[in-house]
Amino acid sequence: MQTYETVRCDREDHVVVVTINRPEKLNALNEQLVRELTAAIDELDNDPSVYAVVLTGAGDKAFVAGADIEAMSDMTPAQGKAFADKGHALMNRIEQAHFPVIGALNGFALGGGCELALACDFVYASDKAKLGLPEVSLGIMPGFGGTQRLGRRIGPGQARELCFTGDMIDAEQALRVGLVNAVVAHAELLNKVKEVAKKIASRGPVAIAQAKRVMVRGADVPLPVALELEGQAFGQLFGTEDQREGMKAFISKPKRSPAFVGK
Ligand code: COA
Repeated sequence: MQTYETVRCDREDHVVVVTINRPEKLNALNEQLVRELTAAIDELDNDPSVYAVVLTGAGDKAFVAGADIEAMSDMTPAQGKAFADKGHALMNRIEQAHFPVIGALNGFALGGGCELALACDFVYASDKAKLGLPEVSLGIMPGFGGTQRLGRRIGPGQARELCFTGDMIDAEQALRVGLVNAVVAHAELLNKVKEVAKKIASRGPVAIAQAKRVMVRGADVPLPVALELEGQAFGQLFGTEDQREGMKAFISKPKRSPAFVGK
């Protein structure tokens, strides 16, 4: 893999931990970070042997404390639009990757950090995490997908309250509204999320890639179209080595664990 200044990738078998690495600025998203994180996800997506990715932040305080306010402070409307376009491209890249991306929210996940969490397939939070969309306190609004993805994840009423008040919520409140899947003791967060990623990586990788694709794509189209997508993907899996192996392992006597090859 390429080396990046603001992103670190550490691989353990089929799982890659991607760490956003700008801790002195609480991992705030500037143009370089958005560019490098997009490139890193792109590189990983071109590697079919990556089965799951964990996304976390460097340091002990923040996942990502938002888009970089200093960098945004003198943007023109055209520059603001271009920055939003780059943010959208990053979030779309994460959603369209063939592997699940699981967020490990190790502290503040604000603004662009909360939007990054929403682009992940699901997230676990440290008991010290704080989440929110504080953009309106700065006279702007969420621009990396938050106005659209938050409501889709937690419902429109909860999403509007968070967006319009700009309030931060703690991990337990985030759990209650369905913004995070679990709250984990701070020191155990990364190991816990890696464990979940390893479990995912032990299942049929082609099946997971197809399920992710259909779940992401299906959320934005009418139900009959989404069900057609599901049916086609389901059918295609019967042409894979993994389907034959998975079912053969189940029906063999004694039953054994499948050895998936990702084909
Ligand atoms: N953009 C740019 N820099 C940021 C940042 C952001 N979104 N969030 C934090 N930083 C920087 C701070 O300016 C500071 O830099 P400095 O040491 O050079 O002064 C450093 O990160 C540490 O942050 P600090 O504010 O001192 O930490 P704190 O523990 O007192 O407060 C927060 C933490 C998250 C409450 C606070 O940093 C904050 O409110 N950040 C902005 C959150 C936000 O509005 N995000 C949405 C942006 S659209």
